[in-house]
Amino acid sequence: MAVTIHQLRQLKQQGRPISVLTAWDFALATLIDQAGVDVVLVGDSLAMVALGYSTTLSLTLEEMLYHAQAVTRGVNHALVVCDLPFMSYQESPQQALKSAGTLLQQAGVAAVKVEGGYPDMVETVRFLVNRGIPVMGHVGLTPQSVHQFSGYRRQGTSEVDADRILQEAIALEQAGAFAIVLEHMPTPLAAKITQTLTIPTIGIGAGSACDGQVLVTADMLGLSDWQPPFAKSYGNLRQSIIETVQQYCDEVRNHQFPQ
Ligand code: KIV
Repeated sequence: MAVTIHQLRQLKQQGRPISVLTAWDFALATLIDQAGVDVVLVGDSLAMVALGYSTTLSLTLEEMLYHAQAVTRGVNHALVVCDLPFMSYQESPQQALKSAGTLLQQAGVAAVKVEGGYPDMVETVRFLVNRGIPVMGHVGLTPQSVHQFSGYRRQGTSEVDADRILQEAIALEQAGAFAIVLEHMPTPLAAKITQTLTIPTIGIGAGSACDGQVLVTADMLGLSDWQPPFAKSYGNLRQSIIETVQQYCDEVRNHQFPQ
């Protein structure tokens, strides 16, 4: 049985933390779904970890659609949420509806995620939700605003900023978001947002009080050559791939393979 939005809300009520991981292709999606993750996020971080762009800003809707289609082909159990790429939703609620509709219709994702909680974005979320499109919010460090933030800085460190982020999260819930990502912010702020909202909060670099956690799978597997300070590697796939490939090359060169 596939995970539903309703079940995520029940998990918050039960106090059972929600696990979220990103995926960008069929192979990875199949593996993390079989391992039992609750939500697979086709995050626009794929721009950096899978396509080699220097930020997420370069990713287009067409590229996202291509990857989302591959991911949904590999997922049977988890809820699949897809990021709306930069400039595919900021222009107007109508533009956001068209982009979200494309991802739901042509890739079969269940929901979209948008970054930011400023008033125009709250209206966009309301517009989508009123038209039957489930939306996950994302506040704190929103990587599509990297230039506005002058880097990937922790957000909500002053009282004024913390209060603004709290108000944004409340506004997104009131607009109908079904869950919200809290990225790179102080633990007490994420805890306060989590206590205030009835929808699940999914933290990344936001401490342990959130209702769930998300990591970029490349970081989690130790596949990236760089990762943010708050990420945790549960493996070192980078090293093991290099060593495995070296062994293959050696065996080919030494006439050991094929035998
Ligand atoms: O793009 C992404 O992977 C994300 C997560 C870090 C939340 O938005």
